[in-house]
Order: sequence, then C-alpha cells, then structure tokens
Amino acid sequence: MPETTSAAPASGTASTRRRQLIAGNWKMNGTRASGVALAGAVADMARRNAPPCDLVVCPPATILMAVGGRLAGSTVSFGGQDCHAKPDGAHTGDIAAPMLADLGCRYVIVGHSERRADHGESDTAVKAKATAALAAGLTIILCVGETEAQRDGGQATSVVGSQIAGSLPEGAAAENCIVAYEPVWAIGTGRTPTGEEIAAMHGHIRASLRKHVGEAADRMRLLYGGSVKPSNAAEILALDDVDGALVGGASLKAEDFLAIAAAARKP
Ligand code: 13P
Repeated sequence: MPETTSAAPASGTASTRRRQLIAGNWKMNGTRASGVALAGAVADMARRNAPPCDLVVCPPATILMAVGGRLAGSTVSFGGQDCHAKPDGAHTGDIAAPMLADLGCRYVIVGHSERRADHGESDTAVKAKATAALAAGLTIILCVGETEAQRDGGQATSVVGSQIAGSLPEGAAAENCIVAYEPVWAIGTGRTPTGEEIAAMHGHIRASLRKHVGEAADRMRLLYGGSVKPSNAAEILALDDVDGALVGGASLKAEDFLAIAAAARKP
C-alpha cells in the first residue's frame, strides 16, 4: 500500500519527499446505494489512472461498512468523520474509535470545525478524541482553522497555534497524525486564502508542530481544506508545506475528486 510517509531530513527539501494525500470528507451525505456507487467510481478511476498521491474517503458512519466492502482490494483507504473519547460505554448515539478500526477504517477526522461549532467541541475534547483514536491504531486527521472574524482581527496564526497546542495528542507522530488546516470561512463558500496565505499558515503550523514533536514535524503531512476543486487544486498542491487536501463538496463527485488527486505533486 502506498500509504507510508517517506523518511525525509529536516531540511527545506522535505516537502518534496512527503507523499501527498487527498482525503474526501463526505460529511452528512450518502445512502448505501449512492455511497457505494461513489466509492466504486473513485476506486475504479484510481485503478485505471493511478494518481501520484494517497486517497482516502470518509463517509458517514452509517455507510462505512458498505463503502469499506466496496473499497476492499482497492488503493483507496477509508475513515470515519469523528469518534468518541471513550473506547466503549454508556454514550448513546456515539461511535468509539475501536468500532471504526473494527470496520477497517485506517483514519478518522477529529476536530472538524463543523463539530467544534455544532457540538461545542473544545481543544481539550478534540485532544481526548485524538488520543482515543491513536490508542485504537487509527491515523488522525486533526483539523484546525480560524474564523473570518479571527483572521480579520489578525489572530489567525495565534488561534491555529493554540488549537495545535491544545488538541495535538501525546504520541502524535508522522505515521499516525495528519494535520488539516481548514479556515472556517473557506469551507463550502468557494473562497480560499491566497497561495501566500496558505503557504505562510502551513509554515507556521509546521513550526508549531516542531515544538511539540521535534523533527517528526518535518515528515508529518499537512493538508489544506476549504473550497478545494479541480480548478484550484494544482496551484494549492504546489505550495510549500502543503502535503495534500481535505476536500468536502468536490469529493462527492468521483470525476472532481480524481481530478484534484491528479493535480498532486509527483513523488
Ligand atoms: P469544502 O471542500 O466543501 O469547502 O469543505 C471542506 C471541508 O470542510 C473538508 O473537511
């Protein structure tokens, strides 16, 4: 499986050695039939024309089993969109990380801004979920990102830095942790930061990560998310310290998702 991050020295050339990863966050979309059809189309297109990157889809929990079955034997991995901080117990409606692992998930998104907003998830709560996910053997896709008001107030880097400090779990390493920078104001809006803004934030995130995990930060993959589509993917994926994308709306169309993946940097 082409899923490992290749070893890279802590140097300016490291970004060219990190294999890019394109992850699709399907959010609250999909039935068994439509999800299996979408996953099948992604897997078939990736087999016919292998993109130069790793591919992951994160469907709703209700269809993980069906989608996972369709992706068996393909080059496309799958993951959950959230997990609980406890491995089991009296938590009606929640899903534990070992349950995701039991279904064959390799990944789980934690700390998405929609969960932070809709469910009041604090950095502390996100860290507990991330810790549980690592204990279950999953790789986390840890989301951070500022609101528009925070960016306008000049607080973007401090907000993202404190989200990293507050939600990065103990034991995070290049092999089990991916960080996704998703400015809240760019999600589902068609607006994106400029290339300079994305590169600057990713550089800042990597510098923050170095304080927490040392040189492993240079091998950790940093994804950009927020209105990524086929028309802007090549520009975004060519930026320094961008090691892939977390894609929402455009991941619901196999052609668009694969077009984004095709724009990934050649390893
Ligand atoms: P969009 O690609 O629809 O803007 O969503 C981004 C996102 O939230 C992925 O997690």
